[in-house]
Amino acid sequence: MLAREAEALLADEHDRVANAANFAALVWQHVPSINWCGFYFFDGHELVVGPFQGRPACVRIALQRGVCGTAAATLETQLVADVQTIPGHIACDAASRSELVVPLQHDDGSLLGVWDVDAPVPGRFDAEDRQGMEKLAKVFLASLR
Ligand code: SME
Repeated sequence: MLAREAEALLADEHDRVANAANFAALVWQHVPSINWCGFYFFDGHELVVGPFQGRPACVRIALQRGVCGTAAATLETQLVADVQTIPGHIACDAASRSELVVPLQHDDGSLLGVWDVDAPVPGRFDAEDRQGMEKLAKVFLASLR
């Protein structure tokens, strides 16, 4: 199970960038049919790209903009079956068609950033993927403590 592997991989380290980099690489290696996965971290003003796998991405995303900005502003996971139906979607990679974005919060509830997984086909993610990614995101957050 991927969450266990993530726990083992991140267990001995608390550095955010180091763990984010290994976490993104692990998901990229194990999750089929995705074209991008990675982090955006909140700098107090907007989202700034962090460690990821896939093609080079947009660096800064304003809160409420696109799927990532919506996840960050609402603190709710965004599961988008077809990004072409989303007004204001940010097409970093024109190949991305569906997205799953999990908000990441500090222990005090404040915004740390988002975990973003994109796929080149519509409808790639379902409720099970959502639960899986939310669980994985918790493993990442726990590793920072
Ligand atoms: N598509 C995202 C932007 C980030 S990337 O795709 C890497 C969005 O609309 O939030």
